[in-house]
Formats: sequence, C-alpha cells, structure tokens
Amino acid sequence: MIGGMTDVSGLSIGILGGTGDQGKGLARRFALAGHEVLIGSRSAERAQEAAASLGEAGPVRGAANAAVAAEADIVIVAVPYDGHRALLESLRDELAGKIVVDCVNPLGFDKQGAYALPVEEGSAAQQAAAVLPGSRVVAAFHHVSAVVLLDPAVEKVDLDVLVLGDDREATDLVQALAGVIPGVRGVYGGRLRNAHQVEALTANIISVNRRYKAHAGIRITDV
Ligand SMILES: NC(=O)c1ccc[n+]([C@@H]2O[C@H](COP(=O)([O-])OP(=O)(O)OC[C@H]3O[C@@H](n4cnc5c(N)ncnc54)[C@H](OP(=O)(O)O)[C@@H]3O)[C@@H](O)[C@H]2O)c1
Repeated sequence: MIGGMTDVSGLSIGILGGTGDQGKGLARRFALAGHEVLIGSRSAERAQEAAASLGEAGPVRGAANAAVAAEADIVIVAVPYDGHRALLESLRDELAGKIVVDCVNPLGFDKQGAYALPVEEGSAAQQAAAVLPGSRVVAAFHHVSAVVLLDPAVEKVDLDVLVLGDDREATDLVQALAGVIPGVRGVYGGRLRNAHQVEALTANIISVNRRYKAHAGIRITDV
C-alpha cells in the first residue's frame, strides 16, 4: 500500500485561512473522515461561521489563526500566496515543532490565463520552511479542486495528491492523511526543493479546466 502503515486517526487538523473554498473543502473531507477540524481565520467570528456551515460533515470548530496553529496536531496553510509569508512569520512560535502542510500555489493571472510566479526561496513551500525553521514543512494538496471537495454529490475524489518534503516521517503522515479522503492516494513526490514545479503545474491544470470545462486532477501510474 502506497501510504504505508502510518496511523493518522485521532489527529486534529487545523486550517489557516480555512474560511476560503480550499480550506473549507479540505475541512469538510477531513471531518467526514472523523477528524476533529479547526478552521482558522484572521477573524474568529468568520471562522466560526465557516465551521457552522460545515456542521453536518462532522466535528468542525472555528477560531483565530493563532489559536488554531497552537492547538491543532497538523496545520494546513490555505491562504493566498500574497498573505503567505506574513501570516507564517506571525505564527512562528505557535507552529514550532508541528507538521505544517503548505498547499499554496503562487500564481498570477492575465489574458492568457494562469502562470507561475517566481518565488525568491524557490517555491511557497520552501518559503514556509525558511520562515518556520522549527516546523516540519510538507507540501501537498496543490491540485485538488475545492469545488470537488465541497460537492456533496462527489463521494470519491478521483486524484492523487503529490506529497513533498525532507522529513520522511512527516511525508508518510501527510500521505496517510490524503488517503482518508475516499478515492485519493497520497504519493511521495520528492524533496521540498522540487515543490516549485508541483505548485506551477497548477497553472497547467487550470488551463485544462478552462478548455474542457472540468475539475481535473492528476494520477501517477505504475505505483
Ligand atoms: N481553490 C482551490 O481549488 C485550490 C486548490 C489547491 C490549492 N489552493 C491554494 O489554497 C490557497 C487558498 O485558496 P482559496 O481559493 O481558498 O483562497 P481564498 O478564498 O482567496 O483565501 C482563503 C482565505 O485566506 C484568508 N486570507 C486572504 N488573504 C489573506 C492574507 N493577506 N493574509 C492572511 N489570510 C488571508 C481569508 O480568510 P480570512 O479573511 O477569514 O482570514 C480567505 O478566506 C491558495 O494559496 C491556493 O493557491 C486552492
């Protein structure tokens, strides 16, 4: 089995910027799988509203980003690239020692569609690792469609999640976490220094979606 024997049951999942579609979509799927989920926001009130909107999925609570970062076992970063560095800099202490999962795609948009933005550190995930030297940064969930995650008609999500990082125990754990979403496999995708092209590939997937009016995902064959 590709995710190994790692057990993630009982781990709570915090989502910074969890009031957006990506955060809410992931929150919904992890709550359906039985995880306690904490939605984070710059406004505790907005977080509580978002959590309430997902009430039927399972145990979801809302709080300020800092409280979520301090409390959750695993913390997913789901904010726009614009606010990424500043938010993580402000949460360095809360996130120390934790597995931090970065799904941020640094993209620009113009008349030709989406394109990858240059990032000084190489990628958003490497920026997170540079800002959070005391955390175990993993890159994952870049290509999942929030629309699909939030769609109650979609029981099985048809895609693989590439999981990148320099800490084997942490990538194993995040692979297993991806695997709690029915239909999804977490597949190891290399070291953090190779996160740029995984983030950038999202621009290609957005082009596929626009051409074919789809919510495309990727599958890795022969594993
Ligand atoms: N949407 C997708 O299908 C998808 C798929 C894969 C990956 N992603 C990645 O996931 C991330 C979130 O995507 P999204 O579509 O959910 O984005 P979004 O709705 O634009 O933003 C998510 C949340 O981030 C918070 N936020 C916005 N600007 C911020 C700032 N400057 N500093 C701190 N927090 C800020 C907001 O929450 P509060 O105002 O409540 O604080 C907002 O609700 C992006 O980096 C994206 O590349 C998205």
